[in-house]
Amino acid sequence: MKQMNFNKQFINYDQNAITQKKVAEKLFSFIDCSKKYQSILELGCGTGVFTKTFYNNLNFNILDLNDIFDTAKYFSEFSYNKFFIEDMENLKLEKYSLVLSSSAFQWVDNFENLIKRISENSPELIFSIYSKGNLIEIFQHFGISLNYLSCSEILTVLNRYYSDIKYETEEFVLKFNSPIDALKHLKKTGVTGFKNSSYSLTKSFKSTILTYRVSYFSCKK
Ligand SMILES: C[S@@+](CC[C@H](N)C(=O)[O-])C[C@H]1O[C@@H](n2cnc3c(N)ncnc32)[C@H](O)[C@@H]1O
Repeated sequence: MKQMNFNKQFINYDQNAITQKKVAEKLFSFIDCSKKYQSILELGCGTGVFTKTFYNNLNFNILDLNDIFDTAKYFSEFSYNKFFIEDMENLKLEKYSLVLSSSAFQWVDNFENLIKRISENSPELIFSIYSKGNLIEIFQHFGISLNYLSCSEILTVLNRYYSDIKYETEEFVLKFNSPIDALKHLKKTGVTGFKNSSYSLTKSFKSTILTYRVSYFSCKK
């Protein structure tokens, strides 16, 4: 197994979804580009930030896409087979040579069940996921957070279904000019759980940094 790379920090200045792009590029490095894949499924494809990184650089025949929202209009320049607009947790999986997903699995309610079903239908899974400690500043101030899994919790699950696992954890620290800029950035990138917070709680948010913690996994049977 790869050594965990826990403390790599990047300082960035605000640009929408810059983290997602960096995550997508890094996740791409986990894929073996010398291989030929018959069929690929990408889960939680969103607007295609990750799809763009692999589409022209991987050797494959069939690409199926999935998102819970209808984002198909962002894929007009891609030639794909099927687009499943559905909760990935309910998606009836076909057989695939490779399943991919970037920055989406943190939304799943039953992570183990998803991994189990994917492993039954594909010999290889490569994904990134926001993990425990992600957006810690928001949790500490507003008390809200997704139920992020830690890297070791994720590994415990993966080890039940895959024998060859490589992984890495990375931290991105984004710096902003003011706390309100940090909150605006979250709003623009779709993290809006704190929007019902009181005015005084929002005003008293003092952090000018946001910490993103991401884990990457390559799993083979
Ligand atoms: C942070 S975005 C990442 C999008 C894209 N993969 C990327 O790298 O930019 C997370 C995506 O997962 C999708 N998503 C969240 N929960 C989902 C679910 N249960 N089933 C399918 N897609 C889901 C969201 O709609 C969103 O497009």
